[in-house]
Amino acid sequence: MCGIVGYIGAREAQSVLLQGLEKLEYRGYDSAGIAVYDGSVIRVKKRLGRLSNLEEQLNGHGLPGSVGIGHTRWATHGRPSDENAHPHEDCSGHFVVVHNGIIENYRMLREQLRREGHRFRSETDSEVVAHLIESLYDGDLLGTVLKAANRLRGAYALVVMSVREPDRLVAVRKHSPLVVGLGEGENFIASDIPALLSYTRRVYVLDEGEVADVTASRVACYRLDGTGVDKQVLEVTWDMAAAEKAGYEHFMLKEIYEQPKAIADTLTGRLAEDNRAVLPELGWDEDTARQIDRIHIIACGTAYHAGMVGRQILERLTRIPVEVEVASEYRYREPVYTENTLVIAVSQSGETADTLAALREAKSRGRRVLAITNVVGSSVAREADDVVITQAGPEIAVASTKAYTTQLVAFYLFACYLARLRGSADPEAIRGILEAVRGLPEAVSKVLDTAPAMKQFARRFAWKESAFFIGRGLDYVAALEGALKLKEISYIHAEAYAAGELKHGTLALIAEGVPVIALATQDHLYEKTVSNIKEVKARDAYVLALTWAGDGEMATVADEVLYLPRTNPWVAPVVVAVPLQLLAYYAAVERGNDVDKPRNLAKSVTVE
Ligand code: F6R
Repeated sequence: MCGIVGYIGAREAQSVLLQGLEKLEYRGYDSAGIAVYDGSVIRVKKRLGRLSNLEEQLNGHGLPGSVGIGHTRWATHGRPSDENAHPHEDCSGHFVVVHNGIIENYRMLREQLRREGHRFRSETDSEVVAHLIESLYDGDLLGTVLKAANRLRGAYALVVMSVREPDRLVAVRKHSPLVVGLGEGENFIASDIPALLSYTRRVYVLDEGEVADVTASRVACYRLDGTGVDKQVLEVTWDMAAAEKAGYEHFMLKEIYEQPKAIADTLTGRLAEDNRAVLPELGWDEDTARQIDRIHIIACGTAYHAGMVGRQILERLTRIPVEVEVASEYRYREPVYTENTLVIAVSQSGETADTLAALREAKSRGRRVLAITNVVGSSVAREADDVVITQAGPEIAVASTKAYTTQLVAFYLFACYLARLRGSADPEAIRGILEAVRGLPEAVSKVLDTAPAMKQFARRFAWKESAFFIGRGLDYVAALEGALKLKEISYIHAEAYAAGELKHGTLALIAEGVPVIALATQDHLYEKTVSNIKEVKARDAYVLALTWAGDGEMATVADEVLYLPRTNPWVAPVVVAVPLQLLAYYAAVERGNDVDKPRNLAKSVTVE
């Protein structure tokens, strides 16, 4: 996720900006840049890669001046590069902006501005803001930014500076956080409090749709309609480490709680009001969609589980046969392709060596590859023919949470998109699934309320030697992911089984008190799953069942039941993932494990 810093006062802006950006490095980024007003012009320096690259470039060629803005970019539109890094300038270099988030209507604005004669230097959505302000400027920067903001759609935070009014910075918050730090004869702006803590602990937290007009001596806040707002000063009492984790004890917990937003961001611009999946980045026509006669999904670990859900949705809606395979096997198997096999590579990081090798194998055999990844400009994104980016933001904890649920969302969108183009499913069925997908941010917010119950269960369960997860259909895939999460951070041995398979071997391991987590969200398989729960109960297992709120039967079968807010069973893997992530998390905490960096594991597996 991008980071923003702004400064206006008497210090050298460059060092304040660089220090502030350093404090935001933990959020992840792929390029960085600063802009400083030197008394006559605004000078901009920006660089692909780490902040240290930018610092090297500034070494001996620093930007003098005491007003400036800075940015670390996590690419969403346009690959990571020097040109796409922020700050962005208009044609004249008089207006300079930094931007977090997504401008949904940037294509239309860019076209309009291009027709007016504006010249664009980057591939980003952000650059349109600088040109839009240039085109609207009427001698009043604050008024112009308000006008521009009212023409922008999407979720964003902006900071604008101008040589025409170099004594002010104007900041806008719309669904993307911004705070103003208050100093004596100096003021600061940042997307997150850690960037300010070395200078001040007194801040205004901008609320939704608020604009701040910041000079060295005063800060005035407005709503987007121009009416004034009286802000309360917040005194920050937390320390730096807590601030980075936004008050959460671990990044993993923070990322679990970020899922409603990550899912909403992944849906932005991809779900039309009439519940049609539109994937503008693919722009396929009906012929392209109809040609596909087979799909291979390749991925590792959690991303492989996302692929297993993807298979079920794709087969159901498109009737195309789908195979899913872990990339480390696929790459050496000499897979059989049909003429029009589509290969889908799923990878949060986009750098996993096995997934990349499997992708290359498919490419070398002339197959079209679509990537589902969280990292724009990653190797997987660059080498694939088509890319669907999940908008989870950087995931820092090794155990994948929000990247997984956004991968599932990407599969729902893609399957519905493909089915519409092929005319292969009842439009009402597609609309029903997409309506549930649209409701996922809310459903996930509600299911986060199960945290206290999962914490309590995890405390009792944390010292068990092993656990079993069972389910049928999509619940089986959810069980696989639940077991993986538990293994990797709590180190409890866990196995997931298709509930109907138990009696073919595993039932021998079920004995008194063995914990079994049973998932029962698939209505058409409910009775079968209940029978399987009875099988393990008959061997004295201890069963925690997860099923929909409103169920009357499960409490008579299982020892404990966790009720989930009801939604369409097709999207259940997203909803069920959350309590299972919480279970793994709290069990790991109870055991005193290093939750964010579990033993023997790395975040990005770039070796075979
Ligand atoms: C588990 C986990 C791993 C990754 C796997 C693939 O929580 O994070 O199983 O899912 O290493 O990584 P990516 O998605 O980056 O290719």
